[in-house]
Amino acid sequence: MKKITKAVFPVGGMGTRFLPATKSIPKELLPIIDKPLIQYAVEEAVEAGITTLIFITSATKHAISDHFDPMPDLRAHFINQGKHQLAEKLDTLPLEIKRVFIPQGQPLGLGHAVLQAESLIEEDEMFAVILADDFIEAPNNPLSCLIQHAQQGQKATISVEQVAADRISSYGVIGTASWQGDLAQVSEIIEKPSAEDAPSDYGVIGRYVLPQALFQRLRETHMDRNQEIQLTDALKQIMTEQGLQAVKLSGQRFDCGSQDGFVLANLHVAMKSPELAEKIRQSLG
Ligand code: G1P
Repeated sequence: MKKITKAVFPVGGMGTRFLPATKSIPKELLPIIDKPLIQYAVEEAVEAGITTLIFITSATKHAISDHFDPMPDLRAHFINQGKHQLAEKLDTLPLEIKRVFIPQGQPLGLGHAVLQAESLIEEDEMFAVILADDFIEAPNNPLSCLIQHAQQGQKATISVEQVAADRISSYGVIGTASWQGDLAQVSEIIEKPSAEDAPSDYGVIGRYVLPQALFQRLRETHMDRNQEIQLTDALKQIMTEQGLQAVKLSGQRFDCGSQDGFVLANLHVAMKSPELAEKIRQSLG
């Protein structure tokens, strides 16, 4: 099997839960303290061996491309002033990492976004999908872990975690026979079921390693009642044909697509900085 070197970042979403902030700022550029969500996601990918980043964008998201552009003049200015740490902060992406931006065209859902990457993935090549608004703090790189399992099992591999019953209807949810450690073969997958219909409390989170065959299945997937093509529906086909495995996330995930998740992620990261933590404690009294 080819090495897994390409990752797709669907970043075309409208970020309605963060309006008016997201009128002009893509939600993926909202920062956790000083670093945008998309940069955390890209750093995770690059550390996991990804060398081509494929961003599926919408018309208003030029700022994401700008964020990863080098700024040689400002960088040189900081270096001349001896401000090396500031200069380093401008290095948002190693120059050797390839970036591709593809417009989604129409907002027709996650499956439709992923489908836009089809021409860049070769036959029998597996690729990663990362949803930047799932912010993850983990002892081991979550994507590396998925890639390892996908390569060992030679099949599509997704990341899951247990989700509270009152939030399960916001996730893709899997059913499995049994777990072997952190790994399970998926026997059922359903997009956003009600708590009563959910086959388990394991929700899919935004890290996937997928086979090229997925694209054909996405093209055949019918739109759901919201006129969206769901990745989960195509994954169900892949599960039946080739098998699908799930890996339990070891680490903490914050759903930064929601306001509470975003605020908690910021607090969590802030509390790891002794200086910020002290100030927060003082101001909370
Ligand atoms: C998407 C997927 C869903 C998955 C979730 C993870 O939903 O459709 O299956 O559980 O991401 O964050 P969205 O958050 O885009 O509604």
